[in-house]
Amino acid sequence: MCVVKASLVAALVAALAYMLATNPFGNVPPSLPSDSAMSALPSWPAYRASNALASVLGATAAATTPPSARAWAIITAFMQSEILATLLAHDVFDNIFPEGSTSAQAAIELGLHEPTLRRYLAAAETLGLVKHGRSTDRFFLTEAGKTLRSDAPSSLRPIALFMHGGATKAAWRAATSRSIVTGESGWMLAHGQDIWHYLAEHPEEEALFGQAMTGLTRPMSGAIVADLKPPTSVGGRNATFCDIGGGVGTLLSEWLRHHPHARGFLLEQPAVVERAKEYLASRGVAGRSTVASGSFFEKLPANMGAACDVFVIKHCLHNWADEPAAAILAHIREGSKKKHAILVAIEAVLMPGASAVLELPKRLMDINMATTVSHGARERTMADFAALFKSAGLPAPTRQTLRLPSVSLLTAPLHAA
Ligand SMILES: C[S@@+](CC[C@H](N)C(=O)[O-])C[C@H]1O[C@@H](n2cnc3c(N)ncnc32)[C@H](O)[C@@H]1O
Repeated sequence: MCVVKASLVAALVAALAYMLATNPFGNVPPSLPSDSAMSALPSWPAYRASNALASVLGATAAATTPPSARAWAIITAFMQSEILATLLAHDVFDNIFPEGSTSAQAAIELGLHEPTLRRYLAAAETLGLVKHGRSTDRFFLTEAGKTLRSDAPSSLRPIALFMHGGATKAAWRAATSRSIVTGESGWMLAHGQDIWHYLAEHPEEEALFGQAMTGLTRPMSGAIVADLKPPTSVGGRNATFCDIGGGVGTLLSEWLRHHPHARGFLLEQPAVVERAKEYLASRGVAGRSTVASGSFFEKLPANMGAACDVFVIKHCLHNWADEPAAAILAHIREGSKKKHAILVAIEAVLMPGASAVLELPKRLMDINMATTVSHGARERTMADFAALFKSAGLPAPTRQTLRLPSVSLLTAPLHAA
């Protein structure tokens, strides 16, 4: 009995020690800003356990749902996002207050038809976006609902508005009728140009897209900053961190805030550069960052090539077909001048045959790429990435998982040893 007890205690202590040792606060990085997205990170064991549980529960639900019910759930899935989009379009999430709001209050404030609003809120409760306090007849936002408020720290409101905007919907409609026949991009068919040229000509949508990417990237930055550890050969945590196609600088600013002695560069298209400078200044890191205006389809600016130790390229390769994506990588390789410089691509990696629960977001995004970006835009498998890196003159990348179900770090040296 004593042996059993001692073994149990030892197992518990070992589990606790492992949890603490892999807790994001236990090791890196050296500085933790008060609003760090790392605070939301689970320890590795907790993360792995929750993924395994989600896979098992997902497979069980799939196996126990009648086929027609499963098909019906997919047929009607658009209604869920339409309900969300309608509530968003009428600022309902911003008008549900921490102390709760009645549907009558919200309807008067927003000029809506109260009985219909109430039905939308009841539907939103089943979607887990609001909670109805039956005794007070007040509605409250759930944690998921709070992410849709415009004042949420990493608000998903901009991405929801962008995805439900007319330009995106037109691209999906074009894909439904034509892309699947010809392989052309839905966005090209609907708008006659790829999304980046379109955004450059539509500043309001461009600004919304920038906010949308910040809303997606900022919560991811905790997992990236916690587990991306540059080797000492490139300066470790003080390595010069360069974000290629880095948007307004969301990831770069989080990196610099966590690594107070590091410096960084951002390369972006001219249309984005001013907003990037403003964003980096608003995050207090303008003095340690340089914003370069240019294109990753051209030669890398010489000052970047000379200074950068770690070239990060996040969620850009999937926007392009193999040939342009390889050209981007080749420009980085050719422009990089430091002997030990490394490339870190941050992308989803498709895993054919893996748990459907974990693969679903990536498969949806793969179709979103085909539909709303440029011809040939796609998510890739590890074999695809190896071939892509090879055609850019780079070795196959090594994959490092993150505490994010849909994103991995793909690292390769830029120059032969
Ligand atoms: C999906 S966003 C990713 C932004 C950022 N890396 C992130 O993950 O938050 C793709 C980015 O590529 C940029 N981009 C598109 N074409 C580019 C080009 N030719 N040169 C540099 N950046 C470009 C866009 O402006 C956009 O910010």
